[in-house]
Amino acid sequence: MFPLFFTTLLLVLASSQAWGKLLIDYHGGDAPSKLGKIELERFSLGDHVSAGKGGNDVFIKSENDNALGLPALHYKRSAHFRRAEVRMLDHEIREGKTYYVGFTMRLTNSRPGLVFFQWKKADKFVSPRQNIPFHMEFVGRDELTLGYTTPGGNGSQRKPVWRGKFSTGNSTAHIHKVAFAINTKNDGSGWLEFYLDGVKQTFDNGQDRLKNVYLFTGRTFPKLGIYRGEAARGNERNRQDHTFNSYVYRVQISDRSLDEIAEAGGLDGAGKPNEPEPEPTSTKSPKPKPTKKPKPTSSEEPAPTTTPAPEPEPTSSDDTSSEPPSSSTTTDPEATLAEDASPTTTPAPSDPSSCKDKKRRREERRSRKRRSHKHKRRNNKHKRGLAQ
Ligand SMILES: *[C@@H]1O[C@H](CO)[C@@H](O)[C@H](O)[C@H]1NC(C)=O
Ligand SMILES: *[C@@H]1O[C@H](CO)[C@@H](O)[C@H](O)[C@H]1NC(C)=O
Repeated sequence: MFPLFFTTLLLVLASSQAWGKLLIDYHGGDAPSKLGKIELERFSLGDHVSAGKGGNDVFIKSENDNALGLPALHYKRSAHFRRAEVRMLDHEIREGKTYYVGFTMRLTNSRPGLVFFQWKKADKFVSPRQNIPFHMEFVGRDELTLGYTTPGGNGSQRKPVWRGKFSTGNSTAHIHKVAFAINTKNDGSGWLEFYLDGVKQTFDNGQDRLKNVYLFTGRTFPKLGIYRGEAARGNERNRQDHTFNSYVYRVQISDRSLDEIAEAGGLDGAGKPNEPEPEPTSTKSPKPKPTKKPKPTSSEEPAPTTTPAPEPEPTSSDDTSSEPPSSSTTTDPEATLAEDASPTTTPAPSDPSSCKDKKRRREERRSRKRRSHKHKRRNNKHKRGLAQ
């Protein structure tokens, strides 16, 4: 009896250490507080809405993604709301480290200006200014960019350094897995790597690591949610087009290794949910693997690039209004977009297969997902229970 008790105790201790590795380990359905601090805002910057007080217009709550039957953190933001985000690890990010951020999510729709991830510097007026070191911003329907802000000036010298597709809609094909390796050295040798659906991405400069960047010039942390892309004041056309729902199913953040965020970030070889199914002839589905084994911990290459160093003191006294308005508020993006009759529907990715096939595959995927979900749950329970 004693040995059993003792062994159990040891295992519990060992496992609590193992489980404590991740800075964030969020499962859809967990309380939002497990992820961070909810921030909701009306049209104007600073016009906050308390969590739970935004009615059906703006909220972030744990509930099932009903379209897919998956537990999620559901974000909703209607046309004239500016922000529904969760601020993670505020005050906890340090200089000179590497952070691994992974998340699995779905967006119902997209439009220019919409941002779903920010690596944000809260003290944006502290020199060198760098309001949002980097973020993920749509520049068109399902056309995504990663924008990097060079420190200095007005703090918003941001430009896209990566472009790609990011589908949105209401099926499992629109679930995406995103991962970043973020190095916070502040001596000009910081770097960033980015994975989308298990594939390491190449930046516009042809490299798969954005080198010599500054990702920690002050109080910086990640934010996940729905930001910008709102309808301009007074614009009541296409409200649906500016209304967004986001479902977050999994978030993992580590300061140790990419492996630790493999599940949320899509690096575990489990494949991206929108990968076309293999031909029915193959018995076992080959799992799509990341093309390269990521090695974000490898030594720095001293490759001088064009990234300028942070400027000293900004001389301009602009920016009293804080963040620059997004394109959606300055110019009316509606004007540049065709007024189509069904703005809320996002065309599904083209699929050469028949509808029936598609349906069957979706069913297969779903049940596989359910099984693996169940399996994981059972495993986790098992682990917690047996402490191993
Ligand atoms: C900040 O500076 C950049 C480049 O210097 C400029 O493109 C941008 O419009 C400025 N933003 C604001 C809000 O002044
Ligand atoms: C997707 O779901 C949202 C509500 O969550 C709905 O407003 C929208 O019309 C749906 N889109 C499609 C293409 O069915």
